[in-house]
Amino acid sequence: MYKFLLRPLFFNFDPEKIHHFTFDMLKSVGKVAGMKALWRKLYSVEDKALERHYFGLTFKNPVGLAAGFDKDAKLIDELDCFGFGFIEIGTVTPKAQPGNDKPRLFRLPADQAIINRMGFNNGGVEEALGRLKNRKSSVIIGGNIGKNKVTPNENAFDDYKYCFETLFPEVDYFVVNVSSPNTPNLRALQDKEPLTQLLSGLMTLNNQKEKKKPILLKIAPDLTDSQLQDIVDIVKEVQLDGLIATNTTISRAGLNTSKEKIETIGAGGLSGRPLRERSTQILRFLRSKLGKDFPIISVGGIMSPDDAIEKLQAGASLIQVYTGFIYEGPALIKKINKALLRQ
Ligand code: FNR
Repeated sequence: MYKFLLRPLFFNFDPEKIHHFTFDMLKSVGKVAGMKALWRKLYSVEDKALERHYFGLTFKNPVGLAAGFDKDAKLIDELDCFGFGFIEIGTVTPKAQPGNDKPRLFRLPADQAIINRMGFNNGGVEEALGRLKNRKSSVIIGGNIGKNKVTPNENAFDDYKYCFETLFPEVDYFVVNVSSPNTPNLRALQDKEPLTQLLSGLMTLNNQKEKKKPILLKIAPDLTDSQLQDIVDIVKEVQLDGLIATNTTISRAGLNTSKEKIETIGAGGLSGRPLRERSTQILRFLRSKLGKDFPIISVGGIMSPDDAIEKLQAGASLIQVYTGFIYEGPALIKKINKALLRQ
């Protein structure tokens, strides 16, 4: 129904307006008695064989919703019905911020891709915390944290610390996002020295807790092999719990969409099919350097069950989708889980 009815309709409208419209619609329709149970029946695949165990958590299946879709934790109970094994909220920042000027979200149907330069638009970490406190769902929640645009990189740790401390009681794992291309200079925090400081600072805070929470780092697909090697060294040095590879890319290589259209769209991170290969390359690199047991969540260009299987065979512990969910709808999660059961 989504792909043949809703998607052709939705794709006639501005992508960001449709995003908000869909949120409102799911919120309202979800209130109708029996609707959530119906969604769950239609889309969830429950099977012990899909379970995965990482960082002391039991994921009911390995397919998660990537960060950026439900930044403000507005739709956890509804999205849980669509069968995700885990949902990552954020990126949240200490203070609410509007993000970049609109338009800032673009579809590239000829490439099954999206370009976005949202710029961490979000209602601030406290607002997300309030919503998380009121959720009914017990689905595993990742808290993806970032810094405000106005915070200079020298003070970035304070922002990450604030988000970490605020979300700590309500999320199951954390993701340190230093890889968005849409916050000026953010990716400089991926350099060896600032990254080591940032992560070891957060690990120290974590170690002071009675019960620690896993901390993961989300990296960009545009890092060179030597930068990736730095990441591997830092992971080992600070004993990070896991990695998420990858965020969106600034590359525009090999697209079917016309050069003119790409130029008109301008800056932003590209996601979806064109990202698949690069994100898998990075996964393979990390897996080869970090050994078979280190948790790596693979994200980037998973548009079909075959793509999901490819990532898992390349060494992904868990996977996430975003653009595939926009193009294929909720049936994608079910199809992936069914395919995994057939393996
Ligand atoms: C994203 N992504 C993202 N990632 C993140 O860590 N924090 C964020 O706030 C966002 N925001 C965001 C907005 C939009 C509109 C898109 C399309 C993506 C990146 C996302 O989580 C994922 O890493 C990439 O999109 C690659 O996966 P897909 O989309 O190819 O499955």
